[in-house]
Amino acid sequence: MLKINNQNILKFVNQAELKLEEEKAIESYKTLVNKNGLGNDFLGWIDYPINYDKEEYDRIKKAAQKIRNDSEVLVVIGIGGSYLGAKAVIEALKPYFKKGKDLEIIFAGNNLSASYMVELLKYLENKSFSLNVISKSGTTTEPAIAFRLLKELLIKKVGKAEASKRIYATTDKQKGALRTLANSEGYETFIVPDDIGGRYSWFTAVGLLPIAAAGFDIDQLMKGSIDSRNDALSLDFKNSPFLQYACYRHLLGTKKGIEILVSFEPKLAYLAEWWKQLYGESEGKENKGIYPASLIYSTDLHSMGQFVQEGSRLMFETVLNIKQPNSDMKMAKEEVDLDGLNYLEGVNLDYVSKMAMEGTILAHVDGGVPNLVIEVDKIDEYNLGYLLYFFMFSCGITCYMSGINPFNQPGVESYKKNMFALLNKPGYEELRKALLKK
Ligand code: PA5
Repeated sequence: MLKINNQNILKFVNQAELKLEEEKAIESYKTLVNKNGLGNDFLGWIDYPINYDKEEYDRIKKAAQKIRNDSEVLVVIGIGGSYLGAKAVIEALKPYFKKGKDLEIIFAGNNLSASYMVELLKYLENKSFSLNVISKSGTTTEPAIAFRLLKELLIKKVGKAEASKRIYATTDKQKGALRTLANSEGYETFIVPDDIGGRYSWFTAVGLLPIAAAGFDIDQLMKGSIDSRNDALSLDFKNSPFLQYACYRHLLGTKKGIEILVSFEPKLAYLAEWWKQLYGESEGKENKGIYPASLIYSTDLHSMGQFVQEGSRLMFETVLNIKQPNSDMKMAKEEVDLDGLNYLEGVNLDYVSKMAMEGTILAHVDGGVPNLVIEVDKIDEYNLGYLLYFFMFSCGITCYMSGINPFNQPGVESYKKNMFALLNKPGYEELRKALLKK
């Protein structure tokens, strides 16, 4: 179970406003669990950890094993919620430096870079690979283009029949171009449930197949999310990190427009990307919302640290404190102390990092940046499962506190329409004319 430490926000807020926010958080929590708020047809993720499809779950494990047996590379094709969860978990769990000949996971279809695609196709030419194409709508342009090109290469390498056995499609159970294609080509398919939106779907097949193929323990990941769900639904405000995080960040957000998620562990850089999507796409609507940003310390203390300490006072920080490192070592003494580091003799590297964290928090709070700490025991499958569910649940509460529907993303359509018109897609002729005039 994780904990929230709020002691470094207290000098920036008063007790009366804290009390008010607490009441608001509890109201919004009720709206979420009673399922009578905005977007309530997208709440399937709340109980998903206990009612997921067990038959499909077994197929995910089998497919992952097959991919590990017959491929050197798995290319995971998807964008937004159809890739960030898997990427976040895999990056957090995999070793920094590659050991042995394990399956390589490559993500594609999450950008429109021509160079990325051409270099990827070249890289795969002499590799045996499988494809997991993920799109809930089945019509998103970025993954659709990547899939078309990667599928062509796979067919060229292994033939149509074998390619169909190496392609796994994760999509809607009935509709969308990807569903039609998968049915007609006989790909193995996995379902993105109707009532779970992309950024809430990391623990469905969307995230689980790539994570299991990467060799990680999805049982533990699910166990973490089950415990997180049970805590989310049972704890009162005093004991609930879910309610506390939602409440404090909402209050700080009314004073500061930017929340920076900070970690001292570079492995968590993509977890922060996933978090940014979750909060940014859920909350940034109707001219409201806290802008979600992220930094990795101590690296970024030597770049953005200056701004956080002394620049415009726009932000508060939320620090992810990982209590126990996965590995550690002690500093040794050198005969001649030329680098002046002998004062660290016998000190663990993680202790140095923790003191950097404490020092940074004190300095930034003195500089006018409120600071929340989320304490996580360690980085493993169980704790990640717990943490990701925690962020989703708190996100639902905070959005409702602002009267926002956390589960739609109407703003994403604007760029798409313009892009289709500029590319001459049939049906966009009038918009094309208007855009060309501009
Ligand atoms: O959270 C969301 O709903 C979005 O970020 C989607 O995941 C993203 O746009 C990709 O959509 P799709 O899975 O339909 O291709």
